[in-house]
Amino acid sequence: MKIVVVTGATRGLGLAVARQCISDGFKVVAVGRTMSEELALLMQQNPECIFFERYDFSDTAGIHLFATQITKKYGRPWGLVNNAAIGRDGVLATLHERDIADLIKINIEAPILLTKYILRSMLINRGGRIINVSSIIATTGFNGLSVYAATKAALAGFTKSLAREVGKAGITVNTLAPGFMETGMTSALQGDKFESIKRRSPLGYLAKVEDAAFAVSYLLSEKSSSVTGTTITVDAGCSA
Ligand SMILES: NC(=O)c1ccc[n+]([C@@H]2O[C@H](COP(=O)([O-])OP(=O)(O)OC[C@H]3O[C@@H](n4cnc5c(N)ncnc54)[C@H](OP(=O)(O)O)[C@@H]3O)[C@@H](O)[C@H]2O)c1
Repeated sequence: MKIVVVTGATRGLGLAVARQCISDGFKVVAVGRTMSEELALLMQQNPECIFFERYDFSDTAGIHLFATQITKKYGRPWGLVNNAAIGRDGVLATLHERDIADLIKINIEAPILLTKYILRSMLINRGGRIINVSSIIATTGFNGLSVYAATKAALAGFTKSLAREVGKAGITVNTLAPGFMETGMTSALQGDKFESIKRRSPLGYLAKVEDAAFAVSYLLSEKSSSVTGTTITVDAGCSA
């Protein structure tokens, strides 16, 4: 069974990706800080296919050891889905420096370090899949999310150059850019703002986490072997 590491798999998009990976026949290493009821249930239903590893990505110094332990315990991963992230909103002029530092650490530094150490296994395997979860906001912009947007744009930039670096080893690197999805991250965004985002959707509705997980499924599969260094947008057309 091929192993896929999914960060931020305790809820939201990461949980949907983990669920999809199981139905695609992968063994999933689900990473996060807090076990959720949904993940616990998924593990109960699929005891051979999904395992939880607790890790807080604000501890960037420990990522090397964490990656080594994962490889020792589960074997060399085929896929890595860098999905864990935080979303702190607020206009830049009043955003705390602490929030800016946290966004950069968890949304950029941590996935880059985890990729660096998981990549070693893929280089030995001469194959693998890396998927960096960005956002349409990286290119469209959104009032009050400038630093978050910067972190998401950084991941898309990371994807492109890394794809050039590792392509010869049969490893693909791609970006997933979801549009607004209803998850814990966006639960504060309700009422008028939510309705106006929905109104802008050509399809008349917003993409769900399951829709974005289908794109990850494709990017992890053999079918996507000629797709690298690109972005797949799943936003029900909101950025069209
Ligand atoms: N929701 C949207 O509208 C939307 C749109 C575009 C892009 N995205 C992107 O999609 C991805 C998933 O977002 P989501 O909406 O599913 O968010 P979410 O519901 O808030 O879930 C975030 C996940 O990341 C994990 N996480 C956060 N901080 C962590 C840390 N320090 N260490 C370890 N794990 C951590 C959380 O796990 P624990 O709490 O257990 O640690 C959780 O599993 C993110 O990259 C986000 O930027 C979301």
